[in-house]
Amino acid sequence: MSIIEAIKTRNSNSVMTGAAVAPAQIKQILDAAVCTPVHHNTNPWRFLVIQGEGRQFLGDIMVNHLEKTMTNPEEPKNIALRNKLNKKPFRSPVIIAVAAAKPDDKKAIMIENVASAIAACQNILLAAPELGLSAFWRTGSFMYEADTAAALGFEEGAELVGLMYLGHPKKQMRPKSRETSDAYVRWLE
Ligand SMILES: Cc1cc2nc3c(=O)[nH]c(=O)nc-3n(C[C@H](O)[C@H](O)[C@H](O)COP(=O)(O)O)c2cc1C
Repeated sequence: MSIIEAIKTRNSNSVMTGAAVAPAQIKQILDAAVCTPVHHNTNPWRFLVIQGEGRQFLGDIMVNHLEKTMTNPEEPKNIALRNKLNKKPFRSPVIIAVAAAKPDDKKAIMIENVASAIAACQNILLAAPELGLSAFWRTGSFMYEADTAAALGFEEGAELVGLMYLGHPKKQMRPKSRETSDAYVRWLE
């Protein structure tokens, strides 16, 4: 398949089986993920591979954040919301948390490290289907809380950019009809 074809046919197939993903496949995907452009050689990509009971740790972080937004977390509807959220990480056998490290180099700037880490997220989405896997990108306001990246063990100043859910698709999705660029382009010549 051509690269353009792979980009156009990729989709966020979120219905996965519970089957584990082989560590060698995860490594293959991460090795592809780090093949991004990088300014000032900052190598900003940071990954935390979450699986097994690690998913409960992530679910608890999500729920703790949600609770802070609730006046009464013990209200039945709020208990239901918390329980629903707590299960989200169990939608897939693997979640790769992706963060951008803060640059040490004075010339480097954070937004460019974030740009490179985000490109790594897209590489994950594109690499997964080639191995027969499915991947989708999730975030949520909890990710941008000051203490979330630290709770997941990322270094000081790192910013989370994605939770990449990864697993075996239950069934293939039909390719989506994609937009063309026409409405988003201007030319200066
Ligand atoms: C940075 C980023 C964060 C996202 N976070 C969420 C999210 O938290 N929840 C969600 O339903 N979709 C989220 N999405 C959108 C999905 O990942 C997905 O792209 C969208 O559902 C369209 O499906 P497609 O990838 O098949 O085109 C996010 C996308 C991006 C780029």
